[in-house]
Amino acid sequence: MKKIITYGTFDLLHYGHINLLRRAKKLGDYLIVGLSTDKFNLEEKHKQSYFTYEKREQLLEAIRYVDLVIPEKSWDQKIKDIQEFKINTFVMGDDWKGKFDFLGDEGVEVVYLPRTKEISTSKIKKDLQS
Ligand code: CTP
Repeated sequence: MKKIITYGTFDLLHYGHINLLRRAKKLGDYLIVGLSTDKFNLEEKHKQSYFTYEKREQLLEAIRYVDLVIPEKSWDQKIKDIQEFKINTFVMGDDWKGKFDFLGDEGVEVVYLPRTKEISTSKIKKDLQS
């Protein structure tokens, strides 16, 4: 079984997220999402999500492409996750291009998928404010 992992906040779930998850799942058989916790978002990514971790987790678990959601609590847990879950492919959107190439040393394939144009959680928040 080919296992895929991806990470993110996935707040105000939108079609850009769904496109990413659909294409990630297509690369294998089992998709794990490392979902940033509220604390990790605040302290490390310096953003506050609109939906709590529990709500974002519920939404992701309802998506047919997602097999398992695990908490992302730190930047450096990726190697541990890759080993623990026996991951074959690490996927991120291409806004992260090059940033995780070092994970190739763990024997995983590192794939950056093109982002869906013109949509992001930040844009939704900004548009709703104006
Ligand atoms: N993503 C994507 N296309 C978009 C938006 C996000 O492919 N239009 C991907 C990101 O590249 C990442 C994953 O979805 O791999 C989760 O991204 P996240 O940062 O949670 O979503 P954004 O909408 O980019 O949120 P923000 O605006 O807060 O950065």
